[in-house]
Amino acid sequence: MKHIQEFDRFAKSYQDYKIIQSKVAKYLVEKTPQKGRYILDLGAGSGEVYRAIEWDFECFYAVDLAANMLALHPSYRVRKIFCNFDDDTCFVKLKKLPIDQIFASSSLQWSKDLNRVFKNIAAISSNLSCALFTSNTFATIHQLLGISSPIYPAKMVLEVAKSFFKVEYEIKEYKLFFPNRRLIFDYIKRSGVSSGKKRAKIADLRQLLRNYPYTYLEFEIIFLWCQK
Ligand SMILES: C[S@@+](CC[C@H](N)C(=O)[O-])C[C@H]1O[C@@H](n2cnc3c(N)ncnc32)[C@H](O)[C@@H]1O
Repeated sequence: MKHIQEFDRFAKSYQDYKIIQSKVAKYLVEKTPQKGRYILDLGAGSGEVYRAIEWDFECFYAVDLAANMLALHPSYRVRKIFCNFDDDTCFVKLKKLPIDQIFASSSLQWSKDLNRVFKNIAAISSNLSCALFTSNTFATIHQLLGISSPIYPAKMVLEVAKSFFKVEYEIKEYKLFFPNRRLIFDYIKRSGVSSGKKRAKIADLRQLLRNYPYTYLEFEIIFLWCQK
């Protein structure tokens, strides 16, 4: 999977570029009513959800498919589990664990099959707090390039979540400002927000680099607090 290879490749630089993902994880955790003792984090990466949790817990299960991201995850009271959340066999393993709370921050937008992942989550837990980047992230760039976003629209995420859970949700927009355009494009490459797929021609990207009208990037995140 191309995006996993990119997370592995840029795991170290992700640490300097995860500004929005850190904010997202903090907000997601802060607004979650439960304070679980056995916590599962899907797409845990290098630990933004873990860092945002301020209560005492027994065990934190950090699931990820990028070994270099998991290597940077804190270890205290953590069990690192290398598995693919799009794969049913991953959930067969997870089902055996005493989980009472699930988080997924800035990760499920990469799911190949949202319906399947929500179904699997609902089978092992009665609650899920998750935040997904939506297709309105980098909307201007996609528009200028005439390409579609590789990730899901908020409406679709919400529909899928609602078919398995009662859902409270919020859609938030963020802007990240940069001193120059070159840094904007470095950010996209190294932050784990792009899919790692080259969907536009190099010449178009060069032109975009010259013509991009803003000094900021646009992000849209849907936060979902789900209960059965
Ligand atoms: C943008 S990072 C977010 C990491 C962390 N949750 C945070 O907030 O910083 C997305 C993470 O999801 C992981 N990921 C993406 N698809 C995955 C999959 N199918 N199975 C397991 N992990 C996956 C990536 O390897 C990456 O570490």
